[in-house]
This record gives sequence, C-alpha cells and structure tokens, in this order.
Amino acid sequence: MISNKIESPNQSIMPISATINDQNHLCLGGIDSSKLIEEFGSPLWVMCEESIMQSAAAVKEGLSAYPNALPCYAGKAFLCLAMVKLIEQSGFGLDVVSDGELFTALQANFPTERIFFHGNNKSDKELAMALSSGVKIVVDSSSELEALISLAKSESKNSEILLRIIPGIELDTHDHIKTGHDTSKFGIPLSELDDVIAKILQQDRVKLIGLHAHIGSQAMDLGPYLESVDLFADLYQNIQKKFNLTLPHLDVGGGLGIAYTSGDKPLSMQNWARVVSERVKSSFASRDLPLPELSVEPGRAIVGSAGVTLYKSGHLKQLPGGKNYLAVDGGMADNPRPITYQAQYTAAVANRMKPENPGKSWSIVGRYCESGDIIVEEATLDVRNGDLIAIFATGAYNYSMSSNYNRTGRPACVLVKNGQAEVIIERETCADLVSHDRIASWLK
Ligand SMILES: Cc1ncc(COP(=O)(O)O)c(C=O)c1O
Repeated sequence: MISNKIESPNQSIMPISATINDQNHLCLGGIDSSKLIEEFGSPLWVMCEESIMQSAAAVKEGLSAYPNALPCYAGKAFLCLAMVKLIEQSGFGLDVVSDGELFTALQANFPTERIFFHGNNKSDKELAMALSSGVKIVVDSSSELEALISLAKSESKNSEILLRIIPGIELDTHDHIKTGHDTSKFGIPLSELDDVIAKILQQDRVKLIGLHAHIGSQAMDLGPYLESVDLFADLYQNIQKKFNLTLPHLDVGGGLGIAYTSGDKPLSMQNWARVVSERVKSSFASRDLPLPELSVEPGRAIVGSAGVTLYKSGHLKQLPGGKNYLAVDGGMADNPRPITYQAQYTAAVANRMKPENPGKSWSIVGRYCESGDIIVEEATLDVRNGDLIAIFATGAYNYSMSSNYNRTGRPACVLVKNGQAEVIIERETCADLVSHDRIASWLK
C-alpha cells in the first residue's frame, strides 16, 4: 500500500504488502492479520519479505552508477537465520557486532568474505572467532589492534581490517544513537590514526584495507554524510602520501532514517545511496585517488518498515478526567524503543482499518510493570475490547533489543510473502524461560 510519492519502502510507515480486505481487515503479505493471530498467536512480529528485498534493491539501484560497491546490512537491526538467508540472496554483505551475530551468520552459511565484524569492545574470544572464520574486522581502538596483532601472530592467522575513526561529525538525532561526534565511544581519534597505521605496517599478518565511520542513526539529511565522505577523501590522500598506501575499501556506515509517523520525511534509499556514492566519486577523483570498493551499511532502513507488531487489545480504561488507556498483550519487552528513545509509532485497529465511529484518544500501553511502558502516547482509534492492534514500522531494533522483562516470553516472528506465512523465530514458552535456571545444590 505505497502511494506514488514513495520511492522506497523506508518512506512508508506500512510494509509494501499491506492492504485492507473487504472485511476492513489489515492484510500483510496477502494474509488477513486476524488469520495470522489465529494461527501464530499474539503478540506477533510480522516481517514482510517484499519490503526487505525491495529496500535492498533500492540501495543497489542508488549505487548502480558506482563501479564497485558492496552494500552491507547491519544485522543489529534484526537478525535471525532466515534474515541472513534473505541478505545473502540480496547480494549484500553483512555487518555483525558480536559472537552471537557472527555465529548466526556462519550457521546460515553466509559467505565469510562478505562479513564485517564491528564492535567497540570485542573480546579476545570474539577476535579469535573472527580470525578463525576469516571475516573482515573493523578495529575500533589501538588497544584492540594490539590484541588482534598478537592473537594473529600466536594463531598464525592473517586478517584484513578496517579502522573505525571518530569523524567528529554531529548528526541531528537522538543522543543515544549519535555515534560520530568528537566524544563518541566508537572509533579511533584522528589524532591517533597515523600511529595506528604505522603500527599495522610493522607486521604483515594484519592488513589494513580501509577506514570506516558510522555517524549515527535515524538520519534525515544528507549533509553529514557528504561531510564524512570529504573527510575520508582527505584521509585516504594523506595515507597515500605518508605511507604510500592506497586503501582499496571504504565503509561510510549506515543510519538512513525511516518513517514512523506521518510527520517523518526520510530520504529515499536510492537518493541516499546515489548522492553519497556520487560524492565519493567526485571527492576521490578531485584528489586523484582511485575509487575504493564502497560499502554503505543500512540496518533500520532495510527492515524497519517491513515489520508490523500485532497485539490483542486487553482492558480499556477510561479515567475520570479523560485519560484513556488501551492495554495490549505486549509492550516494552518486545518494543523497548519508546521507553529508550521516546520513539513515536503509528497504530491502527487491524480488524477495523477504516473506523466505523469517530475514535477517541487512547494511550496504547503495554502489560509491563512500568509507567513508562507506553507504546503510543496518543492515538485516535475506534477501538473495542479484544480488537487487534497493529503497530507499524517495528522491524528494526524491536526483536533485536527485546527482553524477557517480567519473565514474559518473546513473541513469535513470522515472515510473510504472497499469501504464505512461516515462523522464522519461535515463540518463547514459560518452559524456555526457566530452561537456563539452575537451583543451587544447597537449595535442593
Ligand atoms: C557501525 C554501524 N553500522 C551500521 C549501523 C546501522 O545503523 P542503522 O540501523 O541506523 O542504519 C549501526 C547502528 O548502530 C552501526 O553502529
């Protein structure tokens, strides 16, 4: 259900396969949401495969005029075995940030030459896993580099690395998802870069292939990206002059924003990728530098609008004084973004998409023991007990940031496509919740 103003899925609050059937029900991937709940239970994460693949295609289209591009998907947004398979099919590379994400990728046989291992505090165990699996490592500090060099020596292993830098670029976004500013916890200060490169050139097991920076997330304008590209071109030129080293790869990070509410006007993925890659071409050409293989690393923009969370509405509460609460059977444990970033979302009554009566203003709240467990502060809805509530654009940083708060099991996640729906993440049961519990012997 994409209007003609929409160039790429991230600009639409709903997945591209969202429709309304003649029962006035929301359909996802051609399936009535009521049927999805009947079959798979609630709450339920629903991921639209078409949106994911069209988002990946939109990035590739934007990069089509760049000679050698390798767009990567940032797994931290949403990762499971099925998602790894989709990313492999899309031809993207994969950005992982933990042994768990890397393990997931390896379990799904993702090509290791297209995996980049990020993270600001990788353990020795993770570095060893990265070395033995042959993935590329994005080094975040000079102390990490030392650890890696000594591990590579002791394990007689070689590794290709990028260096994450602190570009000192301020992105207009929530403080918690700003990552490129001067005091960022991520990356190597520019003042240390030459020393770090000199250290790398003193040995031959760890090979530097490029630089990386990620300026932040939910970005709505291009300016900071163009600034970072120009900075990279200067740095690549300096490195060539100082170390006679031409770096073959450049990773400008991710961060492209999506629409969560009608007020959000994100860039299209085609436009973002096109303008950024064009800038790399012009900046590097103006410095007589060969064009590096270029990676952009969107996460949210690939999966965000592909996801919808379906909840069953529970008890409606209308307080004297006019405060109305609509409680649903999920909340902050499956979607921690409102309580973490004051994130806004769009809601609808999935079994009555076109309201029959003028709605009332409701606060959609979760079932968790936190007053902050509010999914949508104010939504005007024509809602009744037992209705199905759809929250849109929950594909990114929901499942991946979810928890078992109040000892609740995580919902199931289904992938939908052309009338088909399959579980890609099983619902957690109460038995799952105690499966890691152990009773100390002296308590038996
Ligand atoms: C290194 C890196 N790349 C890419 C991303 C993806 O960001 P987004 O999901 O906003 O595109 C992140 C997010 O934190 C990141 O840290």
